[in-house]
Amino acid sequence: MNIIKKTFLPFLFHLAILYPLLGQTKSEIPLVQELLQKMTLEEKIGQLNLLTPGGGVATGAVISQNVEEKIKAGQVGGLFGIAGPAKIRIVQELAIRQTRLKIPLLIGSDVIHGYKTTFPIPLGSSASWDMELLERAARMAAREATADGINWNFSPMVDIARDPRWGRIAEGAGEDPYLGSAIAAAMVRGYQGEDLSDSTTMMACVKHFALYGASQAGRDYHSVDMGRVKMFNQYLPPYKAAIDAGAASVMTSFNDVDGVPATGNRWLLTNLLRDTWGFQGFVVSDYTSVNEMVAHGLGNLQTVSALSLKAGLDMDMVGEGFLTTLKKSVDEGKVTEEEITRACLRILEAKYKLGLFEDPFRYLDDSRPKKDILTAEHRELAREIASRSFVLLKNHQDVLPLRKKGKIALVGPLADSRNNMLGTWAPTGNPNLAVTILEGLKKAAPNSSIGYAKGANITDDVELAKRVNVFGPRVVIDERTPEVLLKEAIDLAKQSDIVVAVVGEATEMSGEAASRTNLSLPKAQKKMIQALVETGKPIVLVLMSGRPLVISEEFELPVSILQVWHPGVEAGNAVADVLFGTYNPSGKLTATWPRTVGQIPIYHSVKHTGRPPATGEFKKFRSNYLDSPNTPLFPFGYGLSYTTFTYSDLHLDKTEIGPEESLIIGLTLTNTGDFDGEEVVQLYLRDMERSITPPVKQLKGFKKVSVPKGESVQVTLTLSPEDLKFYNGELQFVAEPGDFEVFVGTDSDSSLKASFVLKQ
Ligand code: NOJ
Repeated sequence: MNIIKKTFLPFLFHLAILYPLLGQTKSEIPLVQELLQKMTLEEKIGQLNLLTPGGGVATGAVISQNVEEKIKAGQVGGLFGIAGPAKIRIVQELAIRQTRLKIPLLIGSDVIHGYKTTFPIPLGSSASWDMELLERAARMAAREATADGINWNFSPMVDIARDPRWGRIAEGAGEDPYLGSAIAAAMVRGYQGEDLSDSTTMMACVKHFALYGASQAGRDYHSVDMGRVKMFNQYLPPYKAAIDAGAASVMTSFNDVDGVPATGNRWLLTNLLRDTWGFQGFVVSDYTSVNEMVAHGLGNLQTVSALSLKAGLDMDMVGEGFLTTLKKSVDEGKVTEEEITRACLRILEAKYKLGLFEDPFRYLDDSRPKKDILTAEHRELAREIASRSFVLLKNHQDVLPLRKKGKIALVGPLADSRNNMLGTWAPTGNPNLAVTILEGLKKAAPNSSIGYAKGANITDDVELAKRVNVFGPRVVIDERTPEVLLKEAIDLAKQSDIVVAVVGEATEMSGEAASRTNLSLPKAQKKMIQALVETGKPIVLVLMSGRPLVISEEFELPVSILQVWHPGVEAGNAVADVLFGTYNPSGKLTATWPRTVGQIPIYHSVKHTGRPPATGEFKKFRSNYLDSPNTPLFPFGYGLSYTTFTYSDLHLDKTEIGPEESLIIGLTLTNTGDFDGEEVVQLYLRDMERSITPPVKQLKGFKKVSVPKGESVQVTLTLSPEDLKFYNGELQFVAEPGDFEVFVGTDSDSSLKASFVLKQ
């Protein structure tokens, strides 16, 4: 017995220690394993290097140099910012024909809202609450991008954002983890399809892991400070949903998490992502985010590169910290070759899954761009999704929908502004292909007389214009004086039956590095709106923006307001569809709109306070403001229709459920207005008592239903046992027995409710 113990136990012990390591450095894919065995340390490090040859959008100070030489030297694992089969073939051939091991390159891109057929900005399309549509859009984006040689997409961006000062709120799905998770999964399914090696699908990259949307004060690239309970309950679910849906890669964020930058955060990239969530793909940094850890104060480039690799980062975007320091770190014993092998293995496995080893040129079919890009079918989808993204914020005296006759004055700086239709982060789109609002309206209503006047500049602030015009002229300050511009618009308005004023933000007033502290419309536009109102004509504001704006003053005016975000390549046609009622708007806000900037952060799933404000009056020693109500201007989930809906007969199939049981919620939805319409029926849950403070309400279900005018439909929604769970103080995902309330209705303010009990 002793002999057995002596002989075998140390062996077993070693096996137990070594096996996980071997498991991480040994691929189950024979081809990858064979390759790894042949690779030198330098060749492995080369695979961890992602470069951009320039010519695309550079989102940092650095552009990669000597890319061709580096590819030939086996120092590049992938490229981004390059497109088109012909160009990509050149670099892929370098990798295949001129390197020792002939390893193909990953070709990445930021296909954020459509490829060449630009869809609305993601915050806009999220307002459709239509998962089937969003999946279809992602699928089409994949078809287009792969036709142009792309095999890896830096999307979906799933950062929960509750601070509209942060310009990148435009790129995501808003404030809510439940809706955000559903959208994240739909987009991953759309991009990746069933088979990554299919030449019409591409690999998704969920970003920015993690918590990037919680940048302090809404300032981009700023620090994040958040407790774990909030993280797990409110911010992490969409990343996890994307991973559960099969996202094959993850991009780290620029911010720190618990004091360690995400790019070098072992807890985040290994303990949580791999050990807890079981992620099997690879992790790429954001643009020079390894290098930026030097500025964060974590050491020099060699130190932060080693830290990142050890934390679980596999690929270094643009900064070349891995390329230039890892060999030295191995020599000095600061990282092991196994750690490099492990990262390399993950990248090679991704290339294998994309089918690149079988055929490195599989995404490079010269006949495809013509067949698959900007097709009539794709543009039709862009139009459909844009019209479904619009949110009717106010319909004063039911002015909308417009009739296609009479005289329409189309005014405002965004009414005929092709450069501002696509929205932020549309580097693959072409603004020249966009349909302006003026063109869309004229085409849709050839029998109306449509006059146009600019009326005002987007802003008269020359310095702001300069900052916004980094990717081309977005704010064009007219040669005419503001007075002349305004007079022209007012004269036109006076001669017309109705005024449509297209106002808001230029595309690059939101997006990356586009934080704002003032979310009101620029002064020039406010003045124009006020002057238009004084004409006494009916006024429709078509509002464009990449974020919730502060429009409390405009809301008080006798105007109608249609929020259209930045609608994409089919902007004008989609706006015409909704203004003229060809499509009855059904969009619902996915981020709360504040009354004032001072209310931010503002979102529906806030916590209760021990001192709630008194109803209808200000009271001292309560949780209220001296100068503003607590309530937002528009709550999460808000959006009107040309018709009206009533909710009735709310009923639950049980009043008590056990821990494994689902609850079925039924209701009657009646279209009481004069138009057929679609409604997003929303379900919110309130946990009445639990071990950590619950939110006042949380979205836990929704269904988009279509109801013909005058008719009623029965709607059922299901609460699953999972829906009652939350992460408790010990970060266990549990449901706690007790009383619950469910609310159903048209937005997060709805008060139609029922109760049930969760038993032990
Ligand atoms: C920086 C951005 O943060 C990220 O979202 C993007 O994917 C990369 N640049 C690459 O363009």
